[in-house]
Amino acid sequence: MATTQRDDVITWLRDAHAMETSHADNIEHLIGIADDYPLLKTKLRHHADFAKRQCEEIEAELKRLGADTSMLKDLAMKVGGWLQPLTSKLTSDTVPKNCLAAFAYENFEIASYRSLLGAAEELSLLELSAMCKRFIAEEQAMADFLFEQLPGITQSYLKRRAA
Ligand SMILES: [Fe+2]
Repeated sequence: MATTQRDDVITWLRDAHAMETSHADNIEHLIGIADDYPLLKTKLRHHADFAKRQCEEIEAELKRLGADTSMLKDLAMKVGGWLQPLTSKLTSDTVPKNCLAAFAYENFEIASYRSLLGAAEELSLLELSAMCKRFIAEEQAMADFLFEQLPGITQSYLKRRAA
C-alpha cells in the first residue's frame, strides 16, 4: 500500500471516528427528550452502545495502520459543527424532527462505511473490510427502524399535542 493511499484511509477513519462521536451525542440528546416513546428510547439506548463500540473499533483500526490517535477528540468537535444543520439548525427540538435528522444521519453513516469498504477492498485491508460490513448492517438496522416508526412517532406526537 502506497503511503498516500494509507494516508487517505487514515483520514477517512478519523472522519468516521468523529462522525460516530458526534452521533453518540445526538443520540443521547434524543434519548433525553424521548420519555413518551419507550420503544424508540430502548432502540436508541441500544444504538448508543453500538456507536461507542464502533468508536473503539475505529480507534483500534487506526492503531493497526500505525496512525496517531491522540487528536481524535478535537476532530470530533469539528465534525459536530459540520453536521450541525442536520441535527439542530434546520429542525425544531421535537421528537419527530430529531428522528428525521437521525434517519438522515444513519444514511450518511451508511454512505461513509460503503465508501470506506471500497477503500478496504482496494487495499486488501481485510479487518477493515469486515468492520465496515458489520457497521453498515448495524446502521441499516437503525435506519430501517426509524423509517418504519416515523409515521407512528409523528401520529403519537400530534395526539399528545391535542391532549
Ligand atoms: Fe448510527
